[in-house]
Amino acid sequence: MKHCLHLKDWSADDIRNVIERAIEIKKNPEKYNNILKNKTLIMLFQKSSTRTRLSFETGMTQLGGHGIFLDQKTTQFALTDYRDEIRAVMRFGDVLMMRSKEYKDVATAASFNHIPVIDACSEKYHPCQTLGDLLTMAEHSGGLDKVKKVVWLGIENNVSNTLKLACTKLGIDIFLVTPKVHEISVDEELNKMADDTGHVHKTLDLQEALAGADYVHTDTWMDMEFFDDGKVKAEYQTEYDKRIAMFKPYQLNVQLIEEHAPHAKIMHCMPCHVGYEITTDAINHKNSVIFDQAENRMHAQKAIILYLLGK
Ligand code: CP
Repeated sequence: MKHCLHLKDWSADDIRNVIERAIEIKKNPEKYNNILKNKTLIMLFQKSSTRTRLSFETGMTQLGGHGIFLDQKTTQFALTDYRDEIRAVMRFGDVLMMRSKEYKDVATAASFNHIPVIDACSEKYHPCQTLGDLLTMAEHSGGLDKVKKVVWLGIENNVSNTLKLACTKLGIDIFLVTPKVHEISVDEELNKMADDTGHVHKTLDLQEALAGADYVHTDTWMDMEFFDDGKVKAEYQTEYDKRIAMFKPYQLNVQLIEEHAPHAKIMHCMPCHVGYEITTDAINHKNSVIFDQAENRMHAQKAIILYLLGK
C-alpha cells in the first residue's frame, strides 16, 4: 500500500508524476469533479491549521468526495489506546490524513496498511507542503526541469526536510542557510539520502547561497508561545533575544532579494511571522509566489490522493 509520509520511499518519477497530474487537474477541474464519488478522507488534527484543513476539505469536495474533520481533542482518543482508536477510525474512510504532534503516531497508523496515510505536517516532515511547493515552482519556471537552485533560509525543520529530499531526488541544488537545526525534526536517514546526492549545500554566506537562486524559501523560527498580547513573556525574553540574534541576519526581505537574487521567487509555507523570518514587503513583492503556494496545496493534494488510491 502506498502512503505519503516523508517521501523517502517516493522515486523522482513518483514526485514528477504527481506534479504533472496536479497541473492537469488544476487545468481541467471539470474532468475530475466526480472521480472520488463516495470516497471519504478522514482528516485527524492534533494541532491547529488553516491551509491544510481548507485545502484537503475543499479538494475532496471538488473531486466529488467528502472530507471529515476530526479534532483529536474532541474525540475519544484521550480515553483509550491510540492503536485501537486509530484502527477504528480507519474503518470509516478511504484515506487518512493526519496532522500529528509526533510522527510516530502517523507511522503507527500507516503500519496497519489498512488505508493510505498522509503525513499532513508532523514534527519531522511536511510532504504535502513540498509537493505544493514543487507544483508552484513548476508553474513559475515553466517545468520542474528548469529549476536549478533553491535556497532555504532560517531554521532546518520539518518543512525543509521534505523539501530538501524532494529537490535532491529531482537533481535540484538546495542551499541551506541555517544557523540552527530544530532538534526534533532531525532524521539522519533522510539527511544521508539527500547528502549522498551531492545536491545539498550548507553555508552561512548569503551572497554565495543566493547567487543565481531560482527560489528563496523560509519558515518561522520564532515560537509564538513566547508572546502574550503581542509582548514577549518575561520567562522567554532570553530565548527570544537569542533567536533574534541568531536568525535575523537571514530574514527574507526585499533588500536581501534585490541585492543578491533579483530574479529569485520568494516562498513561504505560511503562516508568516511578519518582522521575524519575513517582511511585509517581501510577501507583497513582485517576485512573491506565496499565495500561489497556499492555493497549490489543494491541487497537489488532489493528485496525491488520486495517486494513493491508484486512480
Ligand atoms: N503551511 C501549512 O501547513 O499551513 P497550516 O498550518 O495553516 O495548515
